[in-house]
Amino acid sequence: MSATILVVDDVDTAREAIADSLRKDGKEVLEAGTLKKAKQYLEQSKADICVLDIKLPDGNGLSLLDDVNKMAWKPKFIVITAYGEIDNAVEAMKKGAIDFFTKPIDDLKALKMSIERAEELVEMQRELNHLRNAQTATSKFIVGKNPRMKSLVDLAQRAAEASASVLITGESGTGKEVMATFIHQVGPRQQKPFIAVNCAAIANTLLESELFGHEANAFTGASNKRKNGLMEVADGGILFLDEISSMPLDMQAKLLRAIEEHAFRRVGGTTLIRVDVQIIAASNQNLKELIRQGDFREDLYYRLKVVDLDIPPLRKRREDLPELVGLLLRQSNMAMGTNIQDITPRAMEALKAYDWPGNIRELRNTIERAIIFCDDPAIDVNHLPMEITENYAG
Ligand SMILES: Nc1ncnc2c1ncn2[C@@H]1O[C@H](COP(=O)(O)OP(=O)(O)OP(=O)(O)O)[C@@H](O)[C@H]1O
Ligand SMILES: [Mg+2]
Repeated sequence: MSATILVVDDVDTAREAIADSLRKDGKEVLEAGTLKKAKQYLEQSKADICVLDIKLPDGNGLSLLDDVNKMAWKPKFIVITAYGEIDNAVEAMKKGAIDFFTKPIDDLKALKMSIERAEELVEMQRELNHLRNAQTATSKFIVGKNPRMKSLVDLAQRAAEASASVLITGESGTGKEVMATFIHQVGPRQQKPFIAVNCAAIANTLLESELFGHEANAFTGASNKRKNGLMEVADGGILFLDEISSMPLDMQAKLLRAIEEHAFRRVGGTTLIRVDVQIIAASNQNLKELIRQGDFREDLYYRLKVVDLDIPPLRKRREDLPELVGLLLRQSNMAMGTNIQDITPRAMEALKAYDWPGNIRELRNTIERAIIFCDDPAIDVNHLPMEITENYAG
């Protein structure tokens, strides 16, 4: 992913000269004429590099360098000071700016070289964050020993790298949403939005305007202000379409077109809005069956499942139960302020013998319930619900 450059200067001609020249080089450029606007962009992590004129109508640009210290994503600053204000430049460098220039900037070549250096730094920082997040992500996401699960995670990582469309299928509670957030955290889009939409929870008539937005008064009931759609909010990041099988057919057609063209129009609008969004869809329904019944578009199905992750039910990965139980115990203890670290071998056997129709979600509930009933240091069979113990002979 390339770096986005924010050019901040209140003098329109000066700002546009830099911005336009960078755009001609194919760079992604944002512009701000005030401190307030610049701060907004930075707070939304929209820019990776900031070319900043220090003297702005609504304050001193240097304050931005202090502000970003509180933010997760810290852009690289290149500051521009007026001739004779070298103190400002020194101050800026102390606060972490990587370079400075004095006005007027007649020759953009030097500035562009500095921007290129900043781009390399941004790339390095991304790489580092990426490694760090991948580590924490895997610690929250239990892969276990199951070979199928391992190859799924491997595939998910590749899909994240390639920003490919992903279709996640699996029974309820198998961890489809967890998998989608995993893809977000281990991939290059981790700093950009992850927007989850439950297609089953939004009325059919509203789905299009939720996804694509609408112009003012586009339809009866629409507000008199323009509204951005979630597809636009997710720009640069990931749109997670949960329960995709609930999407009505006409909307499926519109989604397909938006994915193929990387662009769409707001409801009631004519302008084509271009976005770069990775699509992850999830379903616990058999989509092939729905295609046969004419309730799901086959072309959309193939467009979505560039990478196809079918998560196995828990009963087909029983060997992962000890690791999952360990993680859920740690998480539940933390949430509930308890300290039950262990489970007896008998209780573990009972868990392994059970079929888990509700999969990992049911396992989580079972562990939480057991902790509540448990006065001993370890969870035992008598802390487990009847349906789990009744078929267990041990
Ligand atoms: N690999 C995993 N490691 C740790 N916890 C997991 C894992 N997979 C799922 N969970 C836990 O199981 C529960 C259900 O996961 P999730 O909501 O992702 O399931 P789902 O497949 O989306 O279910 P549904 O089809 O009902 O929406 C969550 O509480 C989640 O924390
Ligand atoms: Mg889900």
